[in-house]
Amino acid sequence: MNLKGKVAIVTGGSSGIGLAIVLELARQGANIVINYHTHPKAAEELEKQVRGLGSHAIGVQADVSQIDDLRALFSQAVESFGRVDIMVNNAGVETRSSILDTTEEQYDKVLSINLKSAFFGTQLAAQQMIKQGGGGRIINISSVHEDWPMPGNTPYCLSKGGMRMLTRTAGVELAPHNILVVGVGPGAVETPINSATMKEPALLKKLDSAIPLGRMAKPEEIASLVAFLASDGASYLTATTVFVDGGIMQGSPGL
Ligand code: BGC
Repeated sequence: MNLKGKVAIVTGGSSGIGLAIVLELARQGANIVINYHTHPKAAEELEKQVRGLGSHAIGVQADVSQIDDLRALFSQAVESFGRVDIMVNNAGVETRSSILDTTEEQYDKVLSINLKSAFFGTQLAAQQMIKQGGGGRIINISSVHEDWPMPGNTPYCLSKGGMRMLTRTAGVELAPHNILVVGVGPGAVETPINSATMKEPALLKKLDSAIPLGRMAKPEEIASLVAFLASDGASYLTATTVFVDGGIMQGSPGL
């Protein structure tokens, strides 16, 4: 096991890509703080699964768009496990709204859950890692849309574009502390964020045909990359994004 004795926080850890990351990090031996927002039952169920894999987990309710909640999340992590080695800024939402009709409320929601949380999550993780010494890993779950326009999903693209520069800037700034900051850029993944597309056969067919590998990713296919990035094998990767998209960015425009 690669991550034996490490402690990881995963924001938005009770569903979608976050859930798969929790399970994969646990499988590799890490103890996990599962942050959730609305579904305590799902987090509880996941805690049990983590225990079944031989690791420890605690579920912590927090709205990661609020810095006080994020601070409490870190306090609980340190109280329970004594340290934080891996921070996965994963929580994310999208509104599928265009530049013409996005409301202030939609804008604020997407930018604060996707980007503000990752900024302060990075800040708090770095403070803790510097305090405890020995470096650490910060992994930002971004998207192909940090770089690739998706018409009709403008706030989301802004948030991921911001995350792209967060990864690069924090990676450079924190390198002297041996804190590595890496972005993960998934394409289309079988998670609740894409449920509308998955329920609509015509839309799904269109999406699949735009992906060179011909299908959406399973969340586990993103999680395995995250586990590698958290491991000793990824000791020279920082301030960049690794795309895990089945080739979609080289195909046709965002779907
Ligand atoms: C978005 C999805 C979209 C996918 C591929 C993801 O980041 O959340 O809505 O289908 O990118 O374009």
